[in-house]
Amino acid sequence: MARIKSVAIIGAGASGAITASALAAEKSFDRIRVFERRETAGGTWIYDADPGPPFQLHPGKIPPEVDPPISIPRTLPVATDPVTRERFDRTPIYEDLTTNVPDIAMSYSDLPFAYGPFVPHWVPKQYIEEYFSKHEVDRYLVLNTTVEDVSRRDPDAESGWSLTLRRLNPVTRRDEWWAEDFDALVIANGHYSVPYIPQVPGLQESPHRIMHSKQFRSAGDFTNKKVLIIGNSSSGQDLTTSLLHSAALPIYQSRRSRGRWDGDTPPPGVVWKPIITRYLPSGDIIFSDGSMLSSSDIDTVIYCTGYKPSFPFWNTARNGGHPLYDYAQDRLLGTYLHTFFQRFADLAIVGLPRVLTFRSMEYQAIAVARLWAGRNAVGLPSTEEQARWEANRVELTRQERRKFHDIPWDNGETMEYLRGLFELAGLPRLEGQGRCPPVLDERTRWAIANLKKYPEPEGEEDGICSLSADGNSVMIHCAEDEMTI
Ligand SMILES: Cc1cc2nc3c(=O)[nH]c(=O)nc-3n(C[C@H](O)[C@H](O)[C@H](O)COP(=O)(O)OP(=O)(O)OC[C@H]3O[C@@H](n4cnc5c(N)ncnc54)[C@H](O)[C@@H]3O)c2cc1C
Ligand SMILES: NC(=O)c1ccc[n+]([C@@H]2O[C@H](COP(=O)([O-])OP(=O)(O)OC[C@H]3O[C@@H](n4cnc5c(N)ncnc54)[C@H](OP(=O)(O)O)[C@@H]3O)[C@@H](O)[C@H]2O)c1
Repeated sequence: MARIKSVAIIGAGASGAITASALAAEKSFDRIRVFERRETAGGTWIYDADPGPPFQLHPGKIPPEVDPPISIPRTLPVATDPVTRERFDRTPIYEDLTTNVPDIAMSYSDLPFAYGPFVPHWVPKQYIEEYFSKHEVDRYLVLNTTVEDVSRRDPDAESGWSLTLRRLNPVTRRDEWWAEDFDALVIANGHYSVPYIPQVPGLQESPHRIMHSKQFRSAGDFTNKKVLIIGNSSSGQDLTTSLLHSAALPIYQSRRSRGRWDGDTPPPGVVWKPIITRYLPSGDIIFSDGSMLSSSDIDTVIYCTGYKPSFPFWNTARNGGHPLYDYAQDRLLGTYLHTFFQRFADLAIVGLPRVLTFRSMEYQAIAVARLWAGRNAVGLPSTEEQARWEANRVELTRQERRKFHDIPWDNGETMEYLRGLFELAGLPRLEGQGRCPPVLDERTRWAIANLKKYPEPEGEEDGICSLSADGNSVMIHCAEDEMTI
């Protein structure tokens, strides 16, 4: 691979922030740009009080159908009428959302959160903004700018990337389009923008108000309302818990499988239901065990069924005919360590696997930066070996019925994954250039294993940890252990 001199990053969320600072630390690149479609850095953590226009239901539809590429003007630069189509750029953050990863593990290793362990949503938002300026990489930000197309500069060669960019000029109210070329690209565009709702017969014709958790802003908006929640992962758990204080009881919760926080019986005020098999025009809702909720039992159904990653800018035709993502398998194609691409040595993605978030992005970003800066004498393994890694993971996750990009902590997989990135980053140089991956020390590992926003039933016999704070530190008391962080 030729020397990389210029790097573009798509997205100024947590992944973009750490990637920009890791690249800058190498002092090896002449030009770094972070293209961000929003007005500020922060990504997911930007709170949009207004969730946007009423939600269009697209049951069972995937991002290529609901968030397709936009048509690009033939000649650039040019100004056009503004694009008005839904681009899913607002965030799902709600008023009383607090983090669910302890601050010591959620923050990057070189800057602590303002406080912890679980903080309101504005703390990570301020943190990401501060991180850009602390590392003086705020000067690389190109805000209010959407990357609309990513194409190989020369489809037949390892030639870097051409980005087509769009920015609404707020004075002329015209969209300004232009192109910029880079030697390498990091995709850090997040994956919680395009909501997913499963297909259920009759859903689209249902007289109920149907919404997705992405549109939820406050439990107060549901005072005395009769609510059915679909899903029992983080959004399902959080919304159900917060609605207990305002909505009409019971709150119904439809579950497809046993959730992380589910005991043997539902908490007081909650009634569990299995999955929905049909919505009737009358408003009745039929469940897989044959039970029914009538139209008078429910005002609003809130789908907490998660999100699908979306890459509308990826120009498959111009990129060797290789799609980036397979929605049937729910995974990126041709990756290595969820970060590198076997076919494109000058392309990387940061932030996609579901693992520890900010801290794991740090290991990804540093590995990418050091490889591209040529610090690592070892380099990536051969493409055959990378393909073997991918095939093994496909097989493992198929056998264990897990998702390809979900990396659990409890079975040691997170440590193994981070170790792979750590070792790839290479040893520090005697002269000290660049940034080295941090250790994941005992306190951090302990916090990940023991500090929980919600108690998890499996841990009950060991005693759930409780917290007490004195303003500067948090004391954690467990059955067997005690620690101050
Ligand atoms: C409701 C909710 C709660 C969460 N709570 C937690 C939590 O408690 N703890 C935790 O660790 N994680 C949590 N997460 C996960 C959270 O998304 C990650 O912590 C992290 O913020 C992801 O960072 P990111 O930079 O990868 O993606 P994002 O934060 O999504 O940032 C991606 C950025 O890319 C921009 N972008 C996208 N496409 C384009 C384009 N084409 N052109 C230009 N810019 C583009 C977006 O505008 C966005 O700013 C939560 C997620 C959700 C949805
Ligand atoms: N800080 C916080 O407290 C907080 C709050 C909300 C969200 N988040 C974060 O936001 C991200 C997204 O979380 P999320 O809860 O929105 O999504 P998610 O974790 O992807 O969960 C999706 C839920 O929908 C269910 N589901 C999916 N397809 C279904 C179908 N066809 N029929 C029935 N049920 C179906 C899943 O059931 P199965 O489990 O059976 O697949 C699961 O319960 C996560 O990173 C999470 O940590 C954090």
